[in-house]
Amino acid sequence: MRTDTAIIGAGAAGMMCAAHTPGRVLVIDHAQAPGEKIRISGGGRCNFTNMYCDAQSFLSENPHFAKSALARYTQWDFISLVDQYGIAWHEKTLGQLFCDGSAKEIIAMLLDLMQKNGAILNLQTTARDFAKGPDGFTFAMTREGRTTQVTAKNLVIATGGKSIPKMGATGLAYDVARRFGLRVTDTRPALVPFTFPEGRFAHLAGVAAPARISAGGTAFDEALLFTHRGLSGPAVLQASSYWREGEPVMLSLDPENTLSEALRAQRQQSGRRKLVTELAQHYPARLADHIATEFGLAGNLADQSDAQLQDLADRLGNWEMLPSGTEGYRKAEVTLGGISTDELSSQTMAAKDIPGLYFIGEAVDVTGWLGGYNFQWAWASAMAAARAK
Ligand code: FDA
Repeated sequence: MRTDTAIIGAGAAGMMCAAHTPGRVLVIDHAQAPGEKIRISGGGRCNFTNMYCDAQSFLSENPHFAKSALARYTQWDFISLVDQYGIAWHEKTLGQLFCDGSAKEIIAMLLDLMQKNGAILNLQTTARDFAKGPDGFTFAMTREGRTTQVTAKNLVIATGGKSIPKMGATGLAYDVARRFGLRVTDTRPALVPFTFPEGRFAHLAGVAAPARISAGGTAFDEALLFTHRGLSGPAVLQASSYWREGEPVMLSLDPENTLSEALRAQRQQSGRRKLVTELAQHYPARLADHIATEFGLAGNLADQSDAQLQDLADRLGNWEMLPSGTEGYRKAEVTLGGISTDELSSQTMAAKDIPGLYFIGEAVDVTGWLGGYNFQWAWASAMAAARAK
């Protein structure tokens, strides 16, 4: 079988690319349905982009690499596409745009665009033995036990990263890259909860509080969520992308630096109130109890000197914690790292030394923050490759 472009992976990037690539387009995915991560994203409502998307919200060995694609296909372009399809959306917080209805509307939109573009989608199909011959790229495609040799002028790898293997994530993109001699950076789970030694926070599971979490010199002010195994919530997921094994994370439960003054003011008014009772005005009760135990707090507000209240606020503002690890690829929203950006054209996502070979989406060493940035990268990198044909 011959085709102009073969796209491996019918996730966010692969579908977007198939929808806009001219010529004969063949899409292959081993899953039963396309866009499975879109379907489950954003709690089923898909946080499909971010109004404040720019290259600063991405991690990569080359922080400039994403600029070109993001500038040529922006969040406003995707919003206008979503609007054309009449998909209702809203901003939840921090520029994060979600469908009012269901993430399935985004999948249906991409499938419709693919169909209008004449792309052929083969699900429950595998591809292997990638090579480059005189007529283009060749590989063996197997479906329902039948194997066909495919020759394609262009080969686009859009198989994503390693996160959530249960949903069909594989390292295929990295294998193909290495096969063609392209460098792959170290990869690690990102946007992932931290784990702590057993039982450390189990009694706080379900408690949420606003916090600032910093790791590797980058801080995020968002919600923190205690889990049976450790820490999660948006602030933690964001910080996890900057964390390395063995390093501490800094937690501030006083990100606005207002606690000390508030405690002193309250001491004036209700000096006989227990310190832990007062803390429960600022934090969920279970967390206030935990803080009291952890820091050995006792007595009434009136028993505390200015220095003691300041010391408490300082400790809560700079609480050093040492995660034992993360929940790994099993729970990571994305994979940090991937195909080295040194190997690719930032204009087209094509391998610099292998004309016709493209890598798009999460497979590339470009990883966004939480909040719609990763989908925007999938759309933008896909469009860069589609427009290059
Ligand atoms: P993606 O993973 O979407 O697609 C890869 C495709 O390749 C899949 O269809 C897979 O089956 C296929 N494939 C893999 N290996 C193959 C092989 N060997 N052979 C054939 N096919 C193969 N981002 C965001 O911006 N907003 C959000 O709300 C969320 N929410 C979210 C929730 C959860 C639970 C997760 C796990 C992730 C998110 N993300 C997110 C991240 C986002 O889902 C992710 O960045 C994009 O889906 C990446 O798009 P890709 O197309 O690159 O890979």
